Amino acid sequence: MSAKEKVLSVGIDLGTSQSAISTSAGAHHVVDSYVGWPVDMVARKVMKKPVVIGAEALENRTMLDLHRPLEQGLIKEGSEKDLAAVREILSHLIELATEGNRETRTRAVVGVPAETMRVNKQQLRQIMRGMVDSLIIVSEPFAVAYGIEALLHTMIIDVGAGTTDFCVMKGRYPTEEDQRTLTKAGDSVDDLLAKLIDERHPEVQFSIHMVRGWKEQYGFVGEPAKRALVTAPVHGKAQKVDITDAVRAACESLLAPFTETMLDLLAAVEPEYQEKVRQNVMLSGRGSRIHGLAEELEKALVDLGGGKVRLVDDPVFAGANGSLAIALDADEDDWEKVSA
Ligand SMILES: Nc1ncnc2c1ncn2[C@@H]1O[C@H](COP(=O)(O)OP(=O)(O)OP(=O)(O)O)[C@@H](O)[C@H]1O
Ligand SMILES: [Mg+2]
Repeated sequence: MSAKEKVLSVGIDLGTSQSAISTSAGAHHVVDSYVGWPVDMVARKVMKKPVVIGAEALENRTMLDLHRPLEQGLIKEGSEKDLAAVREILSHLIELATEGNRETRTRAVVGVPAETMRVNKQQLRQIMRGMVDSLIIVSEPFAVAYGIEALLHTMIIDVGAGTTDFCVMKGRYPTEEDQRTLTKAGDSVDDLLAKLIDERHPEVQFSIHMVRGWKEQYGFVGEPAKRALVTAPVHGKAQKVDITDAVRAACESLLAPFTETMLDLLAAVEPEYQEKVRQNVMLSGRGSRIHGLAEELEKALVDLGGGKVRLVDDPVFAGANGSLAIALDADEDDWEKVSA
């Protein structure tokens, strides 16, 4: 591509729960990773569009064939609709970013859950064909590390919805041994919280979306700073319910697997660098916003000589910003050409 052509670089974070884009023109957009197609003629008339994306799709789900196309870090298997949903999310983000300006050549770095990177890379390339001119696909924790320049002697723990991705950065592109993926993440907390509420308060009526909202509002580990008092219908009548203990137990289900994985990865670091890595553990992903998580993980590091666990500043855009930083630094031969 000649230097004279207008080039827009974009960084995309394709996530299970939210997907985001940051561009070299300074734009930022985020969309919930839901896509819905009106189920019948009536729904088409009400919705007035052939496909609905993001929060609007979730809100209108009774009228839609609703898809959340990623699950446990992977594009759901065997459904053309889920692949189509991924395509809709990506093209929607790119359209928002380019504002329909087709004159511009677009190059995109797409950060995806580490497991998607392993399994679905080929499908993603196929989906992106014709959408952008050049493409690089990277794993999400690597994009986050790149964006915050945490490239050497650091550990990134990206707590998403479908998966938690761990990655130790050793100043080069991470290998399989430097990374781990757990399906203990936001969605597994939601499922456990729903189960616990159901067991402890069988009379309360709720949906998984309500449970997720409660967790986002009250999620914590360790000692509670306040009670989690939520309002939910009981036999059709709105009532206050105290779910503090259930929230704590559900959120704390992350601690043992996180600690174990952190220690396992640390043990594989060259002995003279382990201390540095322990002092540089970064939590990203919105799931890391569970209150007290960093402190509890720090406690787990005490036995090993102590360490520091911090939160990235902007968990919503850390991945997209990191992907954009990669796009801006990438050499001409790093890019895959994907023009149709
Ligand atoms: N304030 C909050 N406290 C706790 N959890 C939260 C909060 N806000 C959002 N979450 C949870 O964070 C998870 C989504 O995080 P994020 O948007 O980083 O995931 P994602 O990138 O879409 O998923 P993945 O990386 O698995 O593909 C969801 O489970 C959501 O409920
Ligand atoms: Mg993510």
